[in-house]
This record gives sequence, C-alpha cells and structure tokens, in this order.
Amino acid sequence: MTTPAEARIVINLDVPGAVISRHLYGHFAEHLGRCIYGGFWVGEDSDIPNEGGIRLDVVDALKRLGIPNLRWPGGCFADEYHWRDGIGPKEERPRMVNTHWGDVEENNHFGTHEFMQLCELLGADPYVNGNVGSGTVQEMSEWVEYLTRAGDSPMARLRRENGREEPWRVPFWGIGNEAWGCGGNMSADHYANEARRYATFCRDHGDNRLYRIAAGAADDDVRWTRSLMEALNCLGCQREPKSIFQAVSFHYYTITGPWEHKGSATEFSIDEYYTTMSKAQEVERVLQAHATIMDAYDPGKRIGLVLDEWGTWWDVEPGTNPGFLYQQNTMRDALVAGVHFDVFHRHADRLTMATIAQTVNVLQAMILTDEESGALVLTPTYHVFEMNRGHHDATSVAAHIVAKPDARATDGRTVELVSASASVKDGAGLVSLSNLDAEVPLDVVLDLRGLTVSGASGRVLAAADVAAHNDPSAPDAVAPAALQVTVDGQGLRVTLPPSSFATVSFEVA
Ligand code: AHR
Repeated sequence: MTTPAEARIVINLDVPGAVISRHLYGHFAEHLGRCIYGGFWVGEDSDIPNEGGIRLDVVDALKRLGIPNLRWPGGCFADEYHWRDGIGPKEERPRMVNTHWGDVEENNHFGTHEFMQLCELLGADPYVNGNVGSGTVQEMSEWVEYLTRAGDSPMARLRRENGREEPWRVPFWGIGNEAWGCGGNMSADHYANEARRYATFCRDHGDNRLYRIAAGAADDDVRWTRSLMEALNCLGCQREPKSIFQAVSFHYYTITGPWEHKGSATEFSIDEYYTTMSKAQEVERVLQAHATIMDAYDPGKRIGLVLDEWGTWWDVEPGTNPGFLYQQNTMRDALVAGVHFDVFHRHADRLTMATIAQTVNVLQAMILTDEESGALVLTPTYHVFEMNRGHHDATSVAAHIVAKPDARATDGRTVELVSASASVKDGAGLVSLSNLDAEVPLDVVLDLRGLTVSGASGRVLAAADVAAHNDPSAPDAVAPAALQVTVDGQGLRVTLPPSSFATVSFEVA
C-alpha cells in the first residue's frame, strides 16, 4: 500500500466565525432539458408516484438534504418566460418555443402554482427569477402581487380564480439573469439602472419581505459588481436602513476545456482531474474579488453576495440532445462540490446564498432519472450535500491547515491537495475534509482546541476510480461508508483514501 501523506489541521472550536446560512446549500431548477419535465414533474397521469404531477421520490430525496431553497424558472429561460402563460387550466395555457434549450416546445404545464406546490412539498423557500430581458416592469410587479398579496386586488383575485386563496410567502426574488448575455446583452451600467427600476416595483406586500437579487457578473468580472454597488449609492448604505436590492449575484462554473470541448463527464485523464480541482479551487479567488469590491462600498456587509449558478459543466452524454445539458456525475464532481462548500463556509460573512446548477438531470445534478424506466439515481454530488447537512445554520470555525503535502502543479496551475472546513452547532462539531490526491492516501490529524470533544464518528465518500459514478444498474457504486476515527492526544486522526471526501462529527462541551 502507498505510504499516506500527512496533514495536520488546527481548529479553535471556541473562536466563532460567521454563521453558515443553510441557503448556501440551495438548488436551481430551470426549464431546460429534463430538469422540470421528466425530472421534477411527470404529470398527474404518470405511473410514477406523484402529487399533482410532482415526482414524490425526487421530493423525498431532496427533503433528506434539507433543501433550503429552489431557484426557478431559469437561468436563461427566465428572461423569455411570461408567467401568465403558466397559470389557469393546463390545456388552455399558451405554448412557446424554448429557444435557449433544445429549441423544443414548452407547454407551460409546470407554472407558478406547480412550482409553489413543489416548494411546499419540499419545505424549501422559493427563489423566483423574474424576466427583465423580454419582460416589463409591470409584468414582474404583477407576478409579485399575484404570489404574495392578501386581500382584494386584481392579481390576488386572479390567483383565487385559479384556486389559491391565500398568498404564498416568497422570500427570494431575482431581477433577471445574466443580463450581460442571454438576459439581454446589456452593459453593466445600463443593467444596473434597469435593476433599480425593476426592483422598485417589486413590492413588499403585507408582511412578505422580498430579498431582491440583482443579476450579477460572470466569473471575475468585478466591473459588473462595481456598477451594481455604484447603482445602490452604497457608500452610505450602512446608514441607510433599506436598499433597493438586497443582494448581487455572480455565476462561476467549473469548466476545464474550451467551450466547444469541455470534456467527458466520465472519461478523463489524471491531468484533467487535477485541472478540474484547480478550477474548482479558483472559486475562492473569484468570490474574494467580488467581496473586496463590495467591502469598499458596503463595509457593514448589508448587501449579500449570491452565487446562484455553480458546478461542473461537461460535454453532454453521447446520444443526448446537446441543448439539454445532461451529464453523468462522478467522484470528481463530488470533490468539486466539497471544495466549493469549504470556500463557502470561509466566506459566510458575505456569501448569503448559493444554488447549484442544477438539481435534476442537468449539469452537476443531485439526481438523475432514467428516461425510459424512470429509475432514480442519487449522484456522488448528492452525497456531499447530505454529508454536509450539519453545517446548515452552524457557526463556522476556521480550519487552519498547518501541515500538508506540497501543492501539485498542473497545466500551468497549482492544486492544493487538502481542503477542509468546520463548524459547530447545538453542542456538535462537524469537519469536512477532502483528499484531492488521486493516488496517495492522507493521514489527517485534527487538532481540536478550545472545547472538550467526545463521541467522534466519521463517514467517507470514496471509490477505487475517481471516474466512478452511479447509474440504475449500480445505484450505490459511490455511496458514503463509515470512516474509522481514532483519538490522537487532544485531537482525532483519520486516514482518507485517494480522491475522497469525508466528514467527522463529534460532541463538544
Ligand atoms: O445553467 C445553465 C445556464 O447557464 C443558465 O440558464 C444560464 O444562466 C447559464 O449561462
């Protein structure tokens, strides 16, 4: 057996950092490929157990993650979606062409009421993304009224005619999407003004308080973030009790190749694996760049940063519609998720929300459903979300990696081979660990200080091959297993297999 590398991580359990919002573990569902139709929604007449057309096995699986929020209806689709087409009797709903995704017909059978029912079944907060690119201020304003207004008003009456008496609670509202591209090809300053205008008319009805999220930058385009912060006149916003929008977003995808050839989800070289890990780690530089700009305008951190699209983006699976973005999901994807969460935990003071793209059957999915049999498979990424559930709303505590193997050079970049983060909540501690070395195991000593630790246990997600994945014939090829934890002086010791993700839980007093 290969001699393990060694790492030592010091964690001061009694030095609290920011609270890790559960909304950093959010999800995204777009009218794209088989995410909604065939993924979440199969229709009332399906043989697959459903409630009002919504797949119950998908709901159950996501409830086990404690899914905190769900973003809908896009993505690029949001800026060509007209919400009135998706209400009323299904057979009478107008149809449209989904020009962004596969150029297929959209029958609008999954609309506002179906989405809100889905959120209620999931116990998740809705994050509705409005249409700026091809919509109007009035259209967006009326959608907010339709969803959230009690009493007597034109939109509240229309909602009641469609069978819903009480308003819903909608906490999160997106003001367009990728306005620099598919959302309207706008300049930063033009969009910043549009965001102010649209956000103004997205009213707080009754006691519903909207957290309005301005559509943000691609990757590290900090000019875009600066324009949005300028538009808020935010130099005074630490004194100003109410802002026009409450957060700005950005998108960061882990893409390793050129756009035309992003590489296969399941067939990749060891170098491609390390390049992927390096690109995943880069999210920290990008996030920090936006946070630094925001700090200059908003040192009191009143405006949130939202990463509402992240994850791996590979070539589609052979034989599938290129516009449907269906890809498999391996142990490599799971490690990308683990790295992102460690970064999110470290920046929980500014990052208020993140939604992975996307939940079912699209990009870095939690769940894949088989088109013919309907069988449901949980991906390795799903298991990382589940193993990290204890971090939801926990207090982050810094994990100082004081000894570690040398970083590895790859493709002109470097990859740190150890990733970690930690939190405490309600008398329990949770440490997440990744060994990103594809060949060498890792002995980790967790030097836990400040509180008394007892009752430790561990779980590990690993596979003999980093390209291992789950499918209907082998749904548990990659699944969590118990990890041995031994007491080592004042700390704990675990050995992580190559390319593995692990969590260590314990009680603190
Ligand atoms: O998630 C797929 C697409 O990626 C989204 O629709 C868009 O916002 C982004 O470019």
